Amino acid sequence: MLGILEIIKIAVLIILLCAHVRGLPNTGNDLATNSTIKLIFNMKDGKVWQINVNDKSEPKIVSNTIVATEKCHTNVTVPGRANIVDLDYDTGKSRVLWMSWNERLYSSSISNNNSDQLIFWYDYYDYLQFSSRRIAVDHVNEKLYSIDRFINPTVEVVDFDGKQRSILSSFETLGKIKDYVFAGKMPVELENADYAGMLFVQEFPMEIAIDPTEGLMFIRTNISWASRIHRINLDGTSLKIVILNAGRIKNNCCRLDVDRLTKRIYWNDCEKGIIESSDYNGNDRVTVIKADDSVALAVYNNHLFWSQNSTDVSTRAIIKECKLRNNTCRADIIRNIILKDIGDVPYKIKVAGLVDKNNISNPCAIDNGKCQQLCLLKHSDSSLSQSNLSYGCACKIGYKLSSNSKDCEPILKYLVYESNNYIRGKTLNPLTDNKTYNFPPQFVWGILEKDQIASIDFNPLTNKLLYLECRNLLQIDLDENLRGCWSIARFQSDCYKDLAYDWQSGKIYTTKLLGSNGTYVLGAVNVPSTFKRRAFVKPDNLRTIDRPLSLVVHPKTGFLYLLTFNALFNKSTITCMKVGGYDPMKLNIIGSGNIIGLAIDNNKDRLYWFTDSGEIQYSNLNGTDIKTLIVKSPISQINSMIIDEDWIYIKNNISIWQINKDTGGNTTCIVPETKDTILRSGMKIIERSQDNLHYGVNYQITKAACKVFCAYKDEIDKENKNPDAEFCKCSK
Ligand SMILES: *[C@@H]1O[C@H](CO)[C@@H](O)[C@H](O)[C@H]1NC(C)=O
Ligand SMILES: *[C@@H]1O[C@H](CO)[C@@H](O)[C@H](O)[C@H]1NC(C)=O
Ligand SMILES: *[C@@H]1O[C@H](CO)[C@@H](O)[C@H](O)[C@H]1NC(C)=O
Ligand SMILES: *[C@@H]1O[C@H](CO)[C@@H](O)[C@H](O)[C@H]1NC(C)=O
Ligand SMILES: *[C@@H]1O[C@H](CO)[C@@H](O)[C@H](O)[C@H]1NC(C)=O
Ligand SMILES: *[C@@H]1O[C@H](CO)[C@@H](O)[C@H](O)[C@H]1NC(C)=O
Ligand SMILES: *[C@@H]1O[C@H](CO)[C@@H](O)[C@H](O)[C@H]1NC(C)=O
Ligand SMILES: *[C@@H]1O[C@H](CO)[C@@H](O)[C@H](O)[C@H]1NC(C)=O
Ligand SMILES: *[C@@H]1O[C@H](CO)[C@@H](O)[C@H](O)[C@H]1NC(C)=O
Ligand SMILES: *[C@@H]1O[C@H](CO)[C@@H](O)[C@H](O)[C@H]1NC(C)=O
Ligand SMILES: *[C@@H]1O[C@H](CO)[C@@H](O)[C@H](O)[C@H]1NC(C)=O
Ligand SMILES: *[C@@H]1O[C@H](CO)[C@@H](O)[C@H](O)[C@H]1NC(C)=O
Repeated sequence: MLGILEIIKIAVLIILLCAHVRGLPNTGNDLATNSTIKLIFNMKDGKVWQINVNDKSEPKIVSNTIVATEKCHTNVTVPGRANIVDLDYDTGKSRVLWMSWNERLYSSSISNNNSDQLIFWYDYYDYLQFSSRRIAVDHVNEKLYSIDRFINPTVEVVDFDGKQRSILSSFETLGKIKDYVFAGKMPVELENADYAGMLFVQEFPMEIAIDPTEGLMFIRTNISWASRIHRINLDGTSLKIVILNAGRIKNNCCRLDVDRLTKRIYWNDCEKGIIESSDYNGNDRVTVIKADDSVALAVYNNHLFWSQNSTDVSTRAIIKECKLRNNTCRADIIRNIILKDIGDVPYKIKVAGLVDKNNISNPCAIDNGKCQQLCLLKHSDSSLSQSNLSYGCACKIGYKLSSNSKDCEPILKYLVYESNNYIRGKTLNPLTDNKTYNFPPQFVWGILEKDQIASIDFNPLTNKLLYLECRNLLQIDLDENLRGCWSIARFQSDCYKDLAYDWQSGKIYTTKLLGSNGTYVLGAVNVPSTFKRRAFVKPDNLRTIDRPLSLVVHPKTGFLYLLTFNALFNKSTITCMKVGGYDPMKLNIIGSGNIIGLAIDNNKDRLYWFTDSGEIQYSNLNGTDIKTLIVKSPISQINSMIIDEDWIYIKNNISIWQINKDTGGNTTCIVPETKDTILRSGMKIIERSQDNLHYGVNYQITKAACKVFCAYKDEIDKENKNPDAEFCKCSK
């Protein structure tokens, strides 16, 4: 006789068995029997591969292009460096989109291993700069999203042609700044030791996954090795943290994927050795499986795929698969998909051949949502309580959304300044727009925390921004977002302090501190007209000077005004030089010796200055007819001033203000103080004409990066006797 316990056990077994048998055709079927389900993967420095999940076939090559690293004209890749930095599957076009280490976007069809196409050249910092981008495809609305894990902590979108590119969001600097150590110091006075008081913690995006059927993206970030998961609408709105602690990042392991069918997110925590999951709101968080040293993961319809690294080479080339029940994986049902003839661990995995639950209709398909430039998907209900795909308009680089939220207006005037580790721009046209843009037009340029920032200047004739820090001079072409960098004090202990651009003559004037004996020197050099890698720009020494505080050029006359401080006599002196002949002429503005900063009014040909007591005075260009502005500065410890049209802009190290230059009235705060933010450098106004906003227009692969590439080409040709015709088609 069977005991009651045995009967219950058998009954449970039967129920379980039935459930198992019944369960398979419903939920397991699509993967178990549908041969269209494939996995796309790559190895760290390899090509793109695919494998059918179900048959026992060998992995097949998807991409055939090797983007040479290091020596750019051969097809040699450097072991351990990623030829392919990231990939995603484009369900709409049955192709893999992948980005090479130098930010070129390629597509490869999964049904033809000889179909690689270079789609566009996404960005170009420097020919030897290794990309740290991650990409994700919105196949419903045909957009490519990307994040940058290194220089720009931004979230971007671009259409499949590479023409309309927009920066949607940017992650913040958090943490604390111990002391406002810079208070009361001019930017030129900052020394290395001053930076010891700064403690920025920058949050960097690390991995991105998209569910276009819901209009959502998920981004995993690194913040001092801890990680978070954010959810953002695909139009950049409604940024929200869904997982506050997604584990500490160990061995660069920081993966994330979404299951579009079950509406859940999955990520790995390599410190705890687990894979976790939650719903799109971050609720119902569960440990899915214990998995040490996971490298990549992908998920589709409750099937989890992942790879694990190990010191044993023979066990690395495996993708593990688990059919999840109640969002977790029972260890005894894990299946190994063996990747024959592949000796390494899959670095990124994506599920291909997948289908969406519903036939999603793209709300942007109708008349581009009446958006003038970009129409992007979004979830109209931020609580996600109901599924409702909607859209929002966005504008490409250099433009901002009009008040009707549909049209785009060119941003023609910015105030450019530096805030913590980034150069930023604030629109001045119109002033009522409170938005701060990363700069150049919405790009961020990252500055290392300990860099001794000197100054920012601009050449309105060429639309090029110049940026000087202690040992490097950086030039940014605002129109094409090309950047070139020169050493200015290579192999020297010298440190450059300040820069004034006489763009009429193409010269920059510099002040520097000689490392050898603490003397300051005034110098001048022509700014190179082309981008050049590893070039050395060496200003000629004009004369030794007292400690410099300010340097400005009057563009019409070419006069250079230099403000120096003499510690012995405890007073400052403004010197005017006809720089053609370097012929100094001391101005009569010695005052009480407390002048600390200068500015030029180009329209009225006046010289402005401020004193350490916050007084603002002006004179004509030869220092006569001195007047004092009636209203005192609204802020103390001013460290920079510029004049533009009717306005004086003044800043200290926490805020920037505008005041009327004649009356001293109509005081407005342009950049308000925000927590833990230091404005380290000076500032500059950049004005552009609409005719000069070309970014993305007439986009051509051969044109995009050619200026930089061709600048490097000569140099590369010298090193390498075998130039690559494909790369070098561009005309100079
Ligand atoms: C299975 O494959 C067919 C094409 O062979 C496709 O139409 C169908 O949508 C797939 N089903 C699932 C659930 O993926
Ligand atoms: C490409 O595909 C063809 C057949 O479609 C096959 O013969 C060839 O071996 C493949 N090449 C690679 C490198 O996988
Ligand atoms: C580059 O690749 C081609 C074949 O695609 C090969 O013939 C050639 O030897 C390679 N060159 C180098 C330097 O590896
Ligand atoms: C994570 O951030 C820290 C600094 O916050 C940085 O040192 C580290 O390199 C980052 N890790 C990765 C994998 O990018
Ligand atoms: C896998 O592990 C090996 C040895 O521990 C290491 O060299 C390699 O970088 C790891 N690969 C990845 C993709 O993490
Ligand atoms: C799934 O798990 C939750 C909690 O982890 C539990 O409450 C629920 O009963 C489980 N459902 C099934 C069908 O096992
Ligand atoms: C999906 O919807 C589009 C238009 O909304 C229609 O043309 C297409 O036939 C539909 N596809 C399926 C499989 O229902
Ligand atoms: C979807 O959102 C739009 C705009 O917010 C709203 O007008 C519409 O009623 C919503 N539809 C559903 C089914 O919730
Ligand atoms: C800009 O910000 C100020 C102060 O923060 C606020 O009073 C004003 O309404 C804002 N203007 C717009 C257009 O949002
Ligand atoms: C410091 O060195 C520079 C260049 O070597 C020289 O011109 C200058 O006279 C020196 N100054 C002092 C005070 O020694
Ligand atoms: C200074 O310049 C003004 C005009 O800007 C001129 O009238 C005046 O004579 C000049 N004074 C001297 C001393 O050069
Ligand atoms: C402030 O600006 C308004 C016009 O915008 C002007 O009428 C007024 O005189 C200005 N006030 C001062 C003190 O400059």
